[in-house]
Amino acid sequence: LHIAVLMGGWSAEREVSLMSGEGIADALESLGHRVTRVDMDRNIALVLDGVKPDIVFNALHGTPGEDGSVQGMLDLMQIPYTHSGMATSVVAIDKVLTKQVLMPHGIPMPGGLIVESESLYTADPMPRPYVLKPVNEGSSVGVAIVNDESNYGSPIGRDTVGPWQEFETLLAEPFIRGRELTTAVIGDEALAVTELVPKSGFYDYDAKYTDGMTEHICPADVPDDIAGLCREIALKAHRLLGCRGTSRSDYRWDDTKGVDGLFLLEVNTQPGMTPLSLVPEQAKHVGLSYAELVQRIVEEAL
Ligand code: DAL
Ligand code: MG
Repeated sequence: LHIAVLMGGWSAEREVSLMSGEGIADALESLGHRVTRVDMDRNIALVLDGVKPDIVFNALHGTPGEDGSVQGMLDLMQIPYTHSGMATSVVAIDKVLTKQVLMPHGIPMPGGLIVESESLYTADPMPRPYVLKPVNEGSSVGVAIVNDESNYGSPIGRDTVGPWQEFETLLAEPFIRGRELTTAVIGDEALAVTELVPKSGFYDYDAKYTDGMTEHICPADVPDDIAGLCREIALKAHRLLGCRGTSRSDYRWDDTKGVDGLFLLEVNTQPGMTPLSLVPEQAKHVGLSYAELVQRIVEEAL
């Protein structure tokens, strides 16, 4: 097949996408496909019209590659593409819309509140500890944990650097103490559960992409009922949102509360494919090499 690998883009996760895209393009070439690498830094419809690929491998993260925009464009151009379609992407990139779709089905997620960033200078939106995050970013870009030990004072001081200075509105969620878990779905199968143990205590951007900053435990050393619930929720969320190919569900687990302490934070429809990313790691755990995983994602799109 002639495959265009779309990567880069202009979201905060541009560099992550370039890493994902290069790995994917190399793997596709090793499989014998004809590959055109497309850095989405200009009019992408014009470029793709010239390239005329059989299929687009979407290696973009964040807006506009993960939010439905690129998916809608490819639908109109009648070019098949990997990963989720437009409507799913629109919902899943938005952490508030995702709650609205999944929580009525009994999927446990932390309650959230949209706050105007300005308001944080005068009052906490909820009791500490809480988490502030942009509604539609990935890789923990712009995420802050506000706890009693934070030097933010109460309320957050204007001179304290944080996402409230860059984003007009933020999602506030109660902070769930405990452990960080994740489960990937490919096709119709939940692969495994991985526990992330960041050396700094916070699985932020640096902890995600700096080798050695986070220990990945796959399969996670958690009770069977917790592992089972992670898989069950990941698969249910994947289906309810209408995801295609692959998705990755991220959790917090308060291990003092058993199954009642497990909360889904979000579903990623364009999960990272970098050397430190989690879907390739879980694929390996079930016997799929990186190249086989990439081929599988292409097949799911055809
Ligand atoms: N947003 C990053 C790429 C991830 O979910 O892996
Ligand atoms: Mg994410």
